[in-house]
Amino acid sequence: MAAKQICVIGAGYVGLPTALLLARSGHRVMVAERDPQRIACLEQGVSPIHEPGLQELLDQEIASHRLHFSSNTIKAIAGCDFVFLCVETPPLPDGSADLNPLINAAREIGPALKQGCILVKKSTAPIGTTALLEQVLDRNDVSVVSNPEFLREGHAIYDLDHPDRIVIGARNREAGEAVVSLTTHPDVPIFMTTPESAETIKYASNAFLATKVSFMNDLAFFCESAGADFATVAAAMGADPRIGHSMMDAGPGWGGSCFPKDTRALLHVGATFQQPLQVVRAAVDANTHHIERIIELVASETGPLHDAVIGILGLTFKAGTNDRRDSPAVFIAHALQARGATVRAYDPTVMTSEPDIDIHNLDIVATAEVAAMGADALVILTEWPQFVTADYSAMALSMRSPTIVDARNLLDPDEMRARGFRYRGLGGM
Ligand SMILES: NC(=O)c1ccc[n+]([C@@H]2O[C@H](COP(=O)([O-])OP(=O)(O)OC[C@H]3O[C@@H](n4cnc5c(N)ncnc54)[C@H](O)[C@@H]3O)[C@@H](O)[C@H]2O)c1
Repeated sequence: MAAKQICVIGAGYVGLPTALLLARSGHRVMVAERDPQRIACLEQGVSPIHEPGLQELLDQEIASHRLHFSSNTIKAIAGCDFVFLCVETPPLPDGSADLNPLINAAREIGPALKQGCILVKKSTAPIGTTALLEQVLDRNDVSVVSNPEFLREGHAIYDLDHPDRIVIGARNREAGEAVVSLTTHPDVPIFMTTPESAETIKYASNAFLATKVSFMNDLAFFCESAGADFATVAAAMGADPRIGHSMMDAGPGWGGSCFPKDTRALLHVGATFQQPLQVVRAAVDANTHHIERIIELVASETGPLHDAVIGILGLTFKAGTNDRRDSPAVFIAHALQARGATVRAYDPTVMTSEPDIDIHNLDIVATAEVAAMGADALVILTEWPQFVTADYSAMALSMRSPTIVDARNLLDPDEMRARGFRYRGLGGM
């Protein structure tokens, strides 16, 4: 298709990769970002986000001159055929999604949008938000299309390149088809539906996946008590195509910027419709309980926490991202510290020089080896591949008590035991 003029509002974990792929497809893309730190990074050609392949693509698209950045949203949307809304929708104290970033952006740009422009809502927002944006814009000549995003952090570029489905919620079919025409994936299933269905698909998908993870985390502890081998149980269950092999691992609990806020927002919407989603409620409660169970597991391995020195490996909610929003790893590190343990934490994406507010009171160290020194336990909370290849023999020698609590089942238990560790994974064996 002919190159379009596109603005992406919000250079976050969704907006920046989306903008880069649109630019790579030949479109002229303006990225509007109001966070001074993020825009400063981008203007220097540096990605503020850790995501495989992102920096390389950023270099390439800046060099192509198809990609530009601005902190002035109104200037950025001037003359645009499409405007992608990729702003945050964080949780409010009652669990509902805060729609202010979306509404404020729509209010700000509404009068300045070019006639015939299509506003594409990629942000995850509750059922009825597309209708709300239409009201806020109050423009008959501008269409709003809900096009929820399903990318996984740590795989953002790959997922945008290989989507498993494209969901379009549009009241104006022509506008929906125009959004589809931007995609370069002719063989991908396209679900052309109403905005309300598109919004529901996104929340239901995340809630279903969170439920699956909660189930597997519960099952890991069940297997341990039952004398069953969780890894074999999960592999054999996953061989049933109705169950599948993905998201069948045990871990320290689900977190990140999506599952916690989206399950809470869905529960809130369910309550307003007087349709309590009891399975989702159970998944949320099970996750809270599971995170506590991991803390107890660490305590059971170290003895009294006020005497314990604990090395934490990993603070992000998963590998491949620098996102720590609602990370169980951060919660667990703080909880162990609050219960008296001396905690030293290492994560490959965290600089020791500039600990952010969420981790400013943790002792952040520069290597896994430093985290292990003099420790009573090493606790693996993020599945970073570099933790597999670390020098555990040397670490065992430097620890006060060589114990590993592997909340990601990342390491080979027999190998760790052969290196002198007391090893504790999830799910027995
Ligand atoms: N992170 C994910 O993995 C993921 C996946 C799918 C969907 N989503 C959804 O996508 C949305 C964005 O998520 P994210 O993780 O990219 O958020 P983010 O916080 O990383 O990025 C949002 C960005 O938008 C900017 N912004 C807000 N209002 C603005 C305005 N008026 N003008 C210019 N910039 C503005 C913010 O400064 C921020 O940098 C959320 O609704 C989220 O639920 C996220």
